[in-house]
Amino acid sequence: MKKPSIAHLRREYNASGHSEGRGRFNPLTLSQYWFQQALRALAVVGREYRQKGLIEQKVPSTPLELFQKWFKEALRAKVLDPNAMTLATVTGPGKPAVRTVLLKGFDAHGFVFFTNYASQKGRELSKRPRASLLFFWPPLMQQVRIDGKVARVSSKESDEYFQSRPRGSQISTWVSRQSQVIPSREFLDRRARQFEKRFKGKPVPRPSYWGGFRLTPERMEFWSGRPNRLHDRLRYQKKSTGGWRLERLSP
Ligand SMILES: Cc1cc2nc3c(=O)[nH]c(=O)nc-3n(C[C@H](O)[C@H](O)[C@H](O)COP(=O)(O)O)c2cc1C
Repeated sequence: MKKPSIAHLRREYNASGHSEGRGRFNPLTLSQYWFQQALRALAVVGREYRQKGLIEQKVPSTPLELFQKWFKEALRAKVLDPNAMTLATVTGPGKPAVRTVLLKGFDAHGFVFFTNYASQKGRELSKRPRASLLFFWPPLMQQVRIDGKVARVSSKESDEYFQSRPRGSQISTWVSRQSQVIPSREFLDRRARQFEKRFKGKPVPRPSYWGGFRLTPERMEFWSGRPNRLHDRLRYQKKSTGGWRLERLSP
């Protein structure tokens, strides 16, 4: 969308009746107005979703296979950071909390990401070991929602991944007390210099408070954009007897 000129917005704004009775052009209201116009324009441009869609008879019997297929499509479509996922946790008093993390491992047992166990998410997951993950790949107009139980991965698995990280990222796990309030940027830079000195010429060990979590899915929903907002939604639900039940949800 081309950004309209201020003069154009002023004319439109005055004509829209927003300024009636107030007599004065208010730049704050104008910026809210501009935002509204921008959102409306996005809705008009709104893409028609032409995905081939999801047919029950054609999808794999497990959601993990379908996830793998979609992830490959996201890679082929050169989606930026296709492994970035939203992680939702629940705080002690039952308030939701979300943030982005990177998927670093995926297999029949679930979805693995790495973090600081003492961070907000780390503490929440230790207390309430359930979470939701969300992938959204805009060029494909595909979304995957995943719910399940979370557990720490083994120390061996965390060590292996830690060793594969660039040295700077390894040192940052010592520098950052993730999610704690710090006094300044300078504080962080000073700590970075201290730890660089401490580990100079030596391998960086993994701190015990840093490692992976694995979410084992109990439910996975695949959303595929279709024309006229009549999107496809297929949900796999884990059965208590093993295997998965497949259901279609209304868009
Ligand atoms: C694209 C992207 C990827 C990220 N990946 C991770 C990650 O893999 N692990 C992590 O701990 N934080 C990651 N972060 C930072 C988190 O979103 C978040 O700021 C941080 O983990 C603190 O969250 P918390 O206070 O809820 O624990 C990422 C942020 C972005 C934007």
